[in-house]
Amino acid sequence: MTDAASVGAGPANIDGYIADSLYPSVYHYLFAPEWTDTVLLRAGKRPPRGLPGADCGTTMLDLGCGDGLGLIASAYADPSSRFIGIDAMPGHVERGRQAAIELGLANVELRCATFGQALEFEPVEAHYVAAQGVLSWVSPQACADLIALIARNLGPGGAATVGYNTMPGWTSRLSFQKIVHTLSRTVAGSPQERFAGGFARTRELPALGAHGVSEHVFEWMDELSLDVPAGYLPHEYLNANWQPLWSLDVIETFADNGLTYTCPAMPQLLRDAFVLKRAQRETLATYDDAATRELVKDHFINEQFRMDVYTGGEASEVARSEAAEALMHSTWLLRRPEEQVEFAIDGRVGKVRFDNLAARAVVERLSRGPASLAEIGEAHDDCTRADLLLAIDALAYDGQVVPVRPRDDSIDCAAFNRWVVAGGVARMGAVMTPFGPVSVGPAVLPSALDDAASRRRLGL
Ligand SMILES: C[S@@+](CC[C@H](N)C(=O)[O-])C[C@H]1O[C@@H](n2cnc3c(N)ncnc32)[C@H](O)[C@@H]1O
Repeated sequence: MTDAASVGAGPANIDGYIADSLYPSVYHYLFAPEWTDTVLLRAGKRPPRGLPGADCGTTMLDLGCGDGLGLIASAYADPSSRFIGIDAMPGHVERGRQAAIELGLANVELRCATFGQALEFEPVEAHYVAAQGVLSWVSPQACADLIALIARNLGPGGAATVGYNTMPGWTSRLSFQKIVHTLSRTVAGSPQERFAGGFARTRELPALGAHGVSEHVFEWMDELSLDVPAGYLPHEYLNANWQPLWSLDVIETFADNGLTYTCPAMPQLLRDAFVLKRAQRETLATYDDAATRELVKDHFINEQFRMDVYTGGEASEVARSEAAEALMHSTWLLRRPEEQVEFAIDGRVGKVRFDNLAARAVVERLSRGPASLAEIGEAHDDCTRADLLLAIDALAYDGQVVPVRPRDDSIDCAAFNRWVVAGGVARMGAVMTPFGPVSVGPAVLPSALDDAASRRRLGL
């Protein structure tokens, strides 16, 4: 099977999804097994590979994987597991396969197929499934096929993390997206040129009295364009089927396919108290139906994006004490230099400060390299387990700390990092450590590898 493109009018596309530019995929730690395990444990559910210590080879399936570079980073650190990516765009699959060959990986398989075509493949009984940035960008048929594919391939006890644009968080930018998309069709050229042309034409409209495209949207876009890799924005804005979804509809459609909404995967949502006022939490508690509760919650928190974990049927419960014990034994890594750590969350409920003994102990220890909370607790009998768990959730809120794999000195980090830097794939946004891949912004990537303090922090 080679080329799945092109149905529909206009430039090359796969059922309305732009196919004339490659998507710059990156390593998303929020879709990695270590994070999925953490959010499931926080929700009192059993992770797909059991509790820490019971590690064994697993299968991960990434649907709409792009060039699969994120999957490849996970595969490099975990040779006993199998990683499979499916994507319809031949250019993506080719680039990912080339990367896997260059890194000598035997445990990654990238398949070029639409979701509909992949329904014909043998199911793989995946422990982990990722579908990031796909659901709100593809046609209704591709969405239906994607969900059916998750249901078909999720093994017993497996978990699927799904990320998509959501309502009502997108409300104020709906007009902007529609106009940029429409005006880009009046411009010829590469996707980047079409997007840039459509954007420039949209920018002229507020001065002419257009409604729905206010100046703050342009300020937001200007800031965003500094943060995202080149080639990202056309994929966000030029797809014919782009639409933010209501969580209620997604949760109910997944349920129709035998997939149960289990917990959020957004780090901000590890604790409701970080993002919801007491009265909001009390109101939510009055709704028995999860889909209803999530829809109302979306109106309180007004995020533009959701990431959620689904399981096949009800996930097995883990006793609260057992889950806490497992979390205490998971390993954490500090992503920022100690002096840049912020001991406050600036969130929807105002500023939540957590500058306390436990948070300071965690940061001080992790500045010397990854460690488990249990290890930190042993050195600090003045910190309770509850203090440490709260500190780690607060630090994880905006990604200051991330859960990682246990140390494995057999990983050839230097070879991977040389490949990342030399191959011009610094945009992958991750470095390899003996604890697995760690997301770092492209701007800090070289210093992350050269600076002695940051090497120590990363366990290198
Ligand atoms: C926005 S990108 C996300 C890529 C990757 N998941 C990530 O987050 O880095 C969406 C991906 O879905 C793929 N795609 C779009 N329509 C598809 C279809 N019908 N079947 C399979 N893949 C599709 C595209 O080729 C693209 O790689």
